[in-house]
Amino acid sequence: MAAAVFGRKVLRSVKTSVNRSWFHGGGVLQQSGSGPPQAGFFPPAEGAMLPTGSFNNRVAFITGGGTGLGRAMTATLSQLGAQCVIASRKLDVLQKTAEEISSQTGNKVHAVQCDVKDPAAVSRCVDQMEALTGLPDVIINNAAGNFVCPSERLSPNGWKSITDIVLNGTAFITLELGKRLIHKQKGASFLAITTIYAESGSGFVAPSASAKAGVEALYKSLAAEWGRYGHRFNIIQPGPIRTKGAFSRLDPTGAFEKAMIDRIPTGRLGTPAEIANLAAYISSDYATWMSGAVIRFDGGEYVSMAGEFNELRRVTPDQWKMMEEMIRSTKGS
Ligand SMILES: NC(=O)c1ccc[n+]([C@@H]2O[C@H](COP(=O)([O-])OP(=O)(O)OC[C@H]3O[C@@H](n4cnc5c(N)ncnc54)[C@H](OP(=O)(O)O)[C@@H]3O)[C@@H](O)[C@H]2O)c1
Repeated sequence: MAAAVFGRKVLRSVKTSVNRSWFHGGGVLQQSGSGPPQAGFFPPAEGAMLPTGSFNNRVAFITGGGTGLGRAMTATLSQLGAQCVIASRKLDVLQKTAEEISSQTGNKVHAVQCDVKDPAAVSRCVDQMEALTGLPDVIINNAAGNFVCPSERLSPNGWKSITDIVLNGTAFITLELGKRLIHKQKGASFLAITTIYAESGSGFVAPSASAKAGVEALYKSLAAEWGRYGHRFNIIQPGPIRTKGAFSRLDPTGAFEKAMIDRIPTGRLGTPAEIANLAAYISSDYATWMSGAVIRFDGGEYVSMAGEFNELRRVTPDQWKMMEEMIRSTKGS
């Protein structure tokens, strides 16, 4: 009887302090401050990982290459010797990025306007690229759109606009380039940038989750089908990496950033340079045996959210001592 009362008290104390730390310590309403201390164990390296010249005489085509992660991937590929072609809707943004990267690396970066939703525009874009550089050796489907929205507030237009960019846009680019490459008997590496919730689904971003899952199905299908033409297809699922495009539409108040960092076992967000190095490796001659791979790159966020007992991270050593006593004192079932 005494043990049971003790047990209830301990349980209440554990629950209270766990709840307190959830709502106030790591709670979703807290603004970002300094991250968890373990981040110090996992400092990001910034420089290009592959040897200089790894992409000499190669052409890389990157959709959405003017901003964010696409810009970082373009900068790394260009630094490693590639001639890059970047494509998206805003030509002025693309041109500025192209000039900046090219002036740093000394390698040409071409800006081509293209709305990937429009198959005719995609075809014109590829015509333009063929005239500028020839067909590419590396294709990175990175362009995307997304916004957070309760699904009961979603309009058909909202659904269509995201799925048109992400799924149809990736399909139009991949099919247009794939057919021309097959015709010319030229091999290539295709890489798609998806997201960790392509696998799990996620509330409040249902169109993006559905479209990214479709992109993964497309890439796995083509990895099986087009190896015979010299084409590889791989996927990176990034976790959160701060870019203006992503964070302004997914966390417009900034309120969720700390909660996000708190659940990442490596204690920090990713950096654009880290994903650029991974993308460069996957697209390089060092990875010619890699096809059909889906690489989750998220500091451990996905598994951290998935494990049913992971919230026990919040239990302190003293609370563990009390819990152990409770468990040991339990008799029967
Ligand atoms: N940052 C993250 O935390 C994160 C996490 C998971 C996955 N991702 C993925 O990483 C990729 C890059 O995202 P980001 O964070 O770098 O955001 P971003 O800077 O907003 O990049 C999106 C790019 O897509 C282009 N784009 C949008 N609609 C287009 C269209 N209809 N036609 C052609 N291009 C279009 C945009 O350029 P224009 O406006 O000029 O068209 C922009 O350059 C996306 O696939 C995203 O889903 C990012």
